[in-house]
Amino acid sequence: MESIVLFGPPGAGKGTQAQRIMDSTGLPQVSTGDMLRAAVSAGTPTGIEAKKYMDAGQLVPDEVIIALIKDRIQEADAVNGVMFDGFPRTIPQAEALSGITEVSHVIAIEVPDGKIVERICGRYTCADCGAVFHDSFNPTTVEGKCDSCGSGQFKRRADDNADTVMSRLNAYHEQTSPLADWYRLKGIFHVIDGDREIDHITEDILSALK
Ligand code: AP5
Repeated sequence: MESIVLFGPPGAGKGTQAQRIMDSTGLPQVSTGDMLRAAVSAGTPTGIEAKKYMDAGQLVPDEVIIALIKDRIQEADAVNGVMFDGFPRTIPQAEALSGITEVSHVIAIEVPDGKIVERICGRYTCADCGAVFHDSFNPTTVEGKCDSCGSGQFKRRADDNADTVMSRLNAYHEQTSPLADWYRLKGIFHVIDGDREIDHITEDILSALK
């Protein structure tokens, strides 16, 4: 089995692109952020532990994340690989991943820091199917109706505020960006300019995956 990693700063468009390329790749999206938010909502011990880090815009400890991934990769839909969104985020996570599954491509979506705050602060998602939208850059086609499933229920994330975004960006530069060189040395690192039209980014990602 061979998996793909979507890599990049908060708000780069990892989740947006994951949903658009799922059908072409045939790989399920595995978002550690979504898994943690589900654990927080369910009030599990993992969720209670993770919430304090997420609210502060800090990374959740590696052992918590690695345990989540080890469980998730056992599920039936992961048998041919998965598309990781937001994992790995540290060298220890990448080392653990190399013992779990083969990674064929790391797709790094690059967006300047100056664009990140407005992206994050305008984000909303469908409460039913999780489709990602933006107040100005990517609104629903029909106001108040999800393009993917037709739902009229939307939500915003607790950590999508200007203060927490700065902490998340700092965590990205200090703890996650060193992974770029780690993967570049393996020859599987593909840089995509994420500061463009969403469709153009999707096309470039699909070309990189060929
Ligand atoms: P997580 O949920 O992974 O958040 P993140 O990495 O900060 O990334 P985002 O989900 O915010 O952004 P995205 O790149 O998916 O962008 P999106 O497509 O939504 O993590 C949250 C927290 O959980 C972390 O802070 C940490 O505490 C914890 N955590 C998670 N994984 C962890 C791990 N492995 N280790 C430790 N801790 C972990 O797009 C953003 C917005 O921009 C949307 O509104 C979208 O419509 C818009 N947009 C997308 N593309 C474009 C474009 N090309 N032009 C204009 N707008 C665009």
